[in-house]
Amino acid sequence: MPASLKSLQPVLDRIADEVQGLPGRGRPADYIPALASADPRRFGMAVADLDGTVYGVGDWQQPFSTQSITKVFTLALDLSLEGELLWEHVGREPSGNPFNSLVQLEYENGIPRNPFINAGALVVTDRLQTLTGDAAGTLRDFLRAESGNHRLTFDEDVADSETAHGDRNAALAHFMASYGNIANPVPALLDQYFRQCSIEASCADLALAAGFLARHGIRADGSTLLTRSQAKQVNAVMLTCGTYDAAGDFAYRVGLPGKSGVGGGIIAVVPGRCTLCVWSPGLDQRGNSVAGVAALDRFTTLTGLSVF
Ligand code: DON
Repeated sequence: MPASLKSLQPVLDRIADEVQGLPGRGRPADYIPALASADPRRFGMAVADLDGTVYGVGDWQQPFSTQSITKVFTLALDLSLEGELLWEHVGREPSGNPFNSLVQLEYENGIPRNPFINAGALVVTDRLQTLTGDAAGTLRDFLRAESGNHRLTFDEDVADSETAHGDRNAALAHFMASYGNIANPVPALLDQYFRQCSIEASCADLALAAGFLARHGIRADGSTLLTRSQAKQVNAVMLTCGTYDAAGDFAYRVGLPGKSGVGGGIIAVVPGRCTLCVWSPGLDQRGNSVAGVAALDRFTTLTGLSVF
């Protein structure tokens, strides 16, 4: 293992070189115009030390649409406020289904498999909304505080576009509401959820913001967000459910807790050591960044920094 993360800069440079042919492979998400127009040739990667030092390569300071990566942060914020009660409303098993699937909800009585598929994330945001009165604002403030980037904010065009194409998420929310698993009015919940997904942040911002997961629950200012056990739980759910129906393949290739988003970003955690974020908008069929997964695969192979 490298003595200091400074020695990782050449590793990042090497990875960028090795995956050079991959940005451009895969296709940007095309369900809303704002994501479809992303340039698939972009690539950035950042690694943040436990003390907040960040190293990066390529477009590591370029903001992109965080999308489902935000589900990690809403889960952590909700757990910090209500603890175990959350798990009565959402499970923690891999779904084996696409992230926006409706199919399991009916025979599992409106309880989503895990907090990282859309149904589960809607439940978490609903509960955070009840607890805080402004789930998306609470999330934005948390990301600002942890990353130190106080310009980090929503992309209102993306949020509006998500709303205009939001039938699937509306169906999920209404269906769960029929089982009594959603407390807020569905339109208000969807507004919060789409704002949450629309947050723009860079690889550097997200690697820093995820730092509490490598510091066993401790925030950038030294205060406690999660207990050590809760931080372990969030990392475990990321490992098993963070990349949807590709979670097995991601664990096999990368060997780290990770969470992807359809904007092309992926965050990953080396507990006790560092956090990573990689971005490249070309997605594979399951919605994960082609170059992003390959870069993380190379990172753990070259450094040996894995949970296994
Ligand atoms: O709910 C949606 O459809 C999007 N706003 C977020 C999807 C997403 O990133 C899922 N991930 N891979």
